[in-house]
Amino acid sequence: MELVVHPLERVLQVPTGANLLETLRAHDVPISYSCMAGRCGTCRCKVVSGSVIETGREAKITNPSEGDYVLACTSVLTQSCAIEIPEPDEIVTHPARIIKALVTAIVDATHDIKIVRLKPAKPLSFSPGQYATLQFTPDHIRPYSMAGLCADDELEFHVRLAPDGRVSSYIFNQLKIGDAVRVSGPLGTAYLRTRHEGPMLCVAGGTGLAPILAIVRGAITARMDNPIHLYFGARSPQDIYGMAQLQSLQAVHPPLKMEVVVTTNETLDSKHRVGLITEAIAQDIQGFHGWRAYVCGAPPMVEATATLLKQRGIDEQRVYADAFYASST
Ligand SMILES: Cc1cc2nc3c(=O)[nH]c(=O)nc-3n(C[C@H](O)[C@H](O)[C@H](O)COP(=O)(O)OP(=O)(O)OC[C@H]3O[C@@H](n4cnc5c(N)ncnc54)[C@H](O)[C@@H]3O)c2cc1C
Ligand code: FES
Repeated sequence: MELVVHPLERVLQVPTGANLLETLRAHDVPISYSCMAGRCGTCRCKVVSGSVIETGREAKITNPSEGDYVLACTSVLTQSCAIEIPEPDEIVTHPARIIKALVTAIVDATHDIKIVRLKPAKPLSFSPGQYATLQFTPDHIRPYSMAGLCADDELEFHVRLAPDGRVSSYIFNQLKIGDAVRVSGPLGTAYLRTRHEGPMLCVAGGTGLAPILAIVRGAITARMDNPIHLYFGARSPQDIYGMAQLQSLQAVHPPLKMEVVVTTNETLDSKHRVGLITEAIAQDIQGFHGWRAYVCGAPPMVEATATLLKQRGIDEQRVYADAFYASST
């Protein structure tokens, strides 16, 4: 039985029943992976011809550009087929782990956003833009995005209080400094692509700023000199936060352009651009050919932005998004 791997054009001889990820790794095919259990989405690849059997998919794959994609780690080869692996020069392999961490700070960023810092017992390796599942108690478990880089001493998370939200209410009302948190990750496919040389669009809605800050800091640390266009959308001026950090990034990376857009501005001052984030992007940038986009935040914003970018010529494989879907438990 043959497995053809595009775009490397390699032809592998494989036995029936082989696991796709194990097969690729055994033949030194460059493929990103992390959890090896169908949870993180990093090993996603496209079936171009033939088919594979997926043995389970625990997590929703949140990239808006879905086609005939499978997770290599949970796929079994039962017939000759061809697959396409994504970006063989952008491989990310951070084995997923569960790490104990202690809460070191809980700081108000706005009236309904808290910055939570955790000191991990061991370093956690991840790429900028990824997220982890935080377990505060056995009944309080949710995914949150890392706002910093893995070289930082502490992990930083930005948590918005969801109306009647079970876990965010726990974080706001009960979590305290010194509490233990289990951090499981890294997860997610919306991580910084460091080999790219064209313009980057970074779109953050609300606490979507956390992964976007990590991506911009990561790009600067990796000495990428790409133009970066960052759009930060907030509901109103009182929901804006992180400006000092953004301005300090701009000071060290002049090709970073920033636009803050608020949906409503009852104070009617002229300091803030008012409207939808997608309207602002559509007004400012006509075409996205050759761009890469990182879009983080609530699902409707992520989906509207991805649709606009596709209409304006972006390669849909180059829109990276792990939307903040609500959990079902
Ligand atoms: C990949 C990923 C990354 C994320 N990163 C972040 C991050 O960095 N920062 C961040 O703040 N959040 C992030 N989130 C969202 C986060 O995981 C939680 O979903 C969020 O904090 C809300 O959790 P909760 O338990 O407080 O709310 P839940 O109790 O899960 O409720 C969520 C919302 O649904 C509503 N709701 C609940 N039950 C019902 C019902 N039966 N009918 C109608 N409405 C209902 C609630 O009112 C609430 O507004 C991320 C999510 C994902 C998937
Ligand atoms: S490595 Fe396959 S989904 Fe995580």
